[in-house]
Amino acid sequence: MRLFIAGATLLALSSIGFAQEAKTQVKKATIEYTNPASGVEMFTTYCAVCHGNDGKGTGPAASALKKAPADLTLLTKKNKGKFPRLEIQAMIKGDTAPAAHGSRDMPMWGDIFRSVSKSPELVDLRVRNLRDYLESIQQK
Ligand code: HEC
Repeated sequence: MRLFIAGATLLALSSIGFAQEAKTQVKKATIEYTNPASGVEMFTTYCAVCHGNDGKGTGPAASALKKAPADLTLLTKKNKGKFPRLEIQAMIKGDTAPAAHGSRDMPMWGDIFRSVSKSPELVDLRVRNLRDYLESIQQK
């Protein structure tokens, strides 16, 4: 499985057609193995390029996406003070499309994780640990 991850010049999803306009370079990279037990390692490796190391949505690839990556530290605030565990889990895995207008710049991680971890249990473990990591970075 190919994925859109690299250093500071990475950009994602050339198929949606911003590749020519974007100043940032589109670069696809093969997905890197990470420890399924480490939410922070997975977040830094897979998510920070769009969502930023701090989760606030300002990663190096963010400016070239059609839709700004969500600020992932506000999930609890936006949900009346309760972290929406199940929704976030489904969102990460790719079972749920994002609410607004069907833009899907956010990769479907369930499929991607299946290419690095063969067992469904490990795929779910990755999703759950990412969810828990996100819960840990919520603004009060
Ligand atoms: C290619 C850029 C990109 C990468 C990489 C990426 N995301 Fe996203 N993500 C987005 C965008 C864009 C949105 C907003 C989606 C929309 O509403 O269309 C989003 C939305 C989300 C949401 C929903 C937030 C909300 O308010 O409902 C969650 C949760 C999320 N991302 C988690 C992750 C996690 C965890 C990873 C790493 C495993 C990740 N994202 C990697 C681009 C990305």
